[in-house]
Amino acid sequence: LTALEQLCIEFAVTAGRFIRDERPDRLGVAQTKSTDTDVVTVMDRRSEELLHRLILEARPDDGILGEEGADVTGTSGLTWVIDPIDGTVNYLYDIPAYAVSVAVVVGDPSREGGWTPVAGAVSDPCLRLVHHARRGSGAWTRPEATGDPALPRRLAVSSEHRLGRSLLATGFGYAADVRARQAEVLTRVLPLVRDIRRIGSAALDLVRVADGSVDAYAESGINAWDLAAGWIVVEEAGGVVVGRDGGAPGKALTVAAGPALVEQVAPLFTT
Ligand code: IPD
Repeated sequence: LTALEQLCIEFAVTAGRFIRDERPDRLGVAQTKSTDTDVVTVMDRRSEELLHRLILEARPDDGILGEEGADVTGTSGLTWVIDPIDGTVNYLYDIPAYAVSVAVVVGDPSREGGWTPVAGAVSDPCLRLVHHARRGSGAWTRPEATGDPALPRRLAVSSEHRLGRSLLATGFGYAADVRARQAEVLTRVLPLVRDIRRIGSAALDLVRVADGSVDAYAESGINAWDLAAGWIVVEEAGGVVVGRDGGAPGKALTVAAGPALVEQVAPLFTT
């Protein structure tokens, strides 16, 4: 493992253990953000503070962009893009499907110009696993405990290319007008696919595409921190991640699947 990928794994696992092991029994909503449904818990903030500190100690010249407000301009050309709890609503309700997403990208998603991940890790603290990749070296899942004898497993996207036999993951934004448009899209898409899953964490949706346990994922409205680590994990598992009109994935649209399926799914989500 290169140093950057190793750091992504270490940081995602450390923050993942922290949010799992320190979750208060009576966890409430600390704040709402864009809308009343867009919630933040005290643990989102504490996890981001932890990640911020770890990154600054190890990589003082890099930038940091985090969901809960971290915005550090670096001098190295690399930015750490972090989601301290992806799946906050699941976490709030104690549904065991949430993740910590840590990626290193070239460029800075909060500034003009493109950006692309070079290494990333998504920890799944409830399953005690971490999924990770770096450019050119495949995508892998391993146990979060370093002494665990279970071998790392190489990930590969599903080979399903028939839309009608595809299990599709998606997610919803927090604004009512966005949700209304997403519901309209799903009215058209649901009859065309095997079924739809709304897991509640975009990072875990992307990892599921990478390991073939769903065939595709599509969502509009997600942010760089939801996407950055899962993007490279999917690509290194042989998948394709695209945005609107085949461009880079991002807020307008993110679609991930094997090469034959992505071309069929993306137009369905282009509203
Ligand atoms: C959300 C989750 C969800 C997706 C939303 C995201 P958060 O991230 O990834 O699955 O549908 O679009 O905002 O708020 O839990 O970090």
